[in-house]
Amino acid sequence: MGNSSSSISPYTVHVKTGDRKGAGTDATVKIRLISKEGQVSNELKLSRFWKNDHERGQIDSFPMGLSELSFDFSDIDKLELWRDSFGLGDNWYLDLITIENNKTKQMFHFPAQRWIKADTRYVFRHYDTSLPQYDDCPEQRNEELLSKKRLYEYAVNFSGAPAQVKKLPEDESFSDSYKWDIVVNKMNLLKESRVLSAVSGVREYFESFGDLKKLYRQTSTMGVPISMRNWTNDLWFAIQRLQGCNPVLLALATRIPPNLNVDPDVVKELLGGLSLDSAVKAQRIFIVDLKILGNLPCPEGRKVCSPIALFYLDEKRQDLLPLCIQLFQIPSGDNPVFYPTDPPYAWLLAKMWYNNADAAYHQSCTHLGFTHLMMEGIAVCTHRNLSPSHPLFKLLAPHFLFLLAINTRGLQKLINPGGWVDKTTTMGCNGMFEIVKRGVKAWRLDVHAVPAVEIARRGVLDKTVLPYYPYRDDAVAVYEAIEKYVKSMVEHFYDSPEKVEEDGELQSWAAELVKSKKRGGCGIRGVPGNGKFTDVEQIIVTMTAIISTCSLGHAAANFNQYDEYGFPPNYPGILCGQVPTQKVLFK
Ligand SMILES: [Fe+2]
Repeated sequence: MGNSSSSISPYTVHVKTGDRKGAGTDATVKIRLISKEGQVSNELKLSRFWKNDHERGQIDSFPMGLSELSFDFSDIDKLELWRDSFGLGDNWYLDLITIENNKTKQMFHFPAQRWIKADTRYVFRHYDTSLPQYDDCPEQRNEELLSKKRLYEYAVNFSGAPAQVKKLPEDESFSDSYKWDIVVNKMNLLKESRVLSAVSGVREYFESFGDLKKLYRQTSTMGVPISMRNWTNDLWFAIQRLQGCNPVLLALATRIPPNLNVDPDVVKELLGGLSLDSAVKAQRIFIVDLKILGNLPCPEGRKVCSPIALFYLDEKRQDLLPLCIQLFQIPSGDNPVFYPTDPPYAWLLAKMWYNNADAAYHQSCTHLGFTHLMMEGIAVCTHRNLSPSHPLFKLLAPHFLFLLAINTRGLQKLINPGGWVDKTTTMGCNGMFEIVKRGVKAWRLDVHAVPAVEIARRGVLDKTVLPYYPYRDDAVAVYEAIEKYVKSMVEHFYDSPEKVEEDGELQSWAAELVKSKKRGGCGIRGVPGNGKFTDVEQIIVTMTAIISTCSLGHAAANFNQYDEYGFPPNYPGILCGQVPTQKVLFK
């Protein structure tokens, strides 16, 4: 805050300049306030010659006296703002203006979140939030939307990919503080990895698990991943399906797939004398079938399995345990079914190859495809169709923060030929794109972005069927909390079906969300109303599903990755050896 004269002025105007490239200005800025009755205040200059006001990320405060504001302060409806083109850096990104009553401490917020052009009069309503049909400055609103449409264009970066932004708009770049955090983290980790490699003597390959484990004792930044203690344990392997970073695949088995060549005698022994059919009928058998990974194009010499695994609830229905793993879809002599009763290293290796496949799906679909790329297309569609003054834009915008910048950076630096994905994953870049393409083809907003629907489809929503399933319990509860908030906001602005019908921005957003990518749309399937909203319920589901995917969906896929991938044998992104084809005694 740059001024202390608030003690003698009845009001203070706080001006926040955005933290983005080129946001600051040397221009002279002026405002006027307009009351609900149409009274207009005198002009107030928000620039001082001897001060460097309106710099990037800065908040500047200006006293406002009774000479400028003669009417009742609590009655302010609008704020009019303009600037000249003085100075070298005259571009200005205005984030927010807040007017403070110094006596009562009451605050009046006028969020702008816009680039302010020179010699143009802008009008901001209190809270700057209205449906387009009630905006009394429609020209300003339409002009802004037209320029956003030129800035946010669609592109499809690889065959079958979700719609993304053609060119990253400057506004989407990381802020200075965010970039600084990334640089600091990267420097710390690089420093640590150099120290580690000097101390351990390991250059490229580890000779033993002991060598690998030593690393975690010598590092402090990231700590020891939980999985290092548990990774060989069968109970842990099942728990990974319930609370790991990919907890969205386990389904109740209603039948055993004919291509799973399971041995009834071995299974019966594991099930305490119960046949597999009886256990299925008793709802004690669960399945993950990763057939989506079949015949994946991988880098030379590498192969991702397309496994089927069965799990079972123990007799007390307390613990989930693995029953068997078949690593490829077509049964054959060199594609055996592995059991926990097999030689220990044969079974352990089967679990590792299973997890390697699970990790390929996790990074390609659960994480990148569904929470990053699908949401990028929706963010682009939102910028193109909803004005920053639209209440739904305001609701969505925080969830898209830096999403486009992260995706653009990821595609340039990580998922590029010869980049991180090619170096550290079995699937490689092309394999990842192929899985994204297959996953996205089946993705529906009203299913995959609504946890209760998606989990019910897998038959595991009912707690009596699967008692311990933390992802389900948390995801459903968090989704409901988001829904409650969204509902209150949506019902506040749309208190009649006419308001939904007459909102041109909302309807064009709905239409473009479902319009095919070939025809210049976003190509999202499963949007309620299929391109035209007719009631508030459809808006609530759509909004909640998007916010839920960007928040809880991404959190579930992202935030416990270190505990899964951090100790590679537990959840290997890459395996360089041969997939086991028999159960010889491994050393
Ligand atoms: Fe992420």
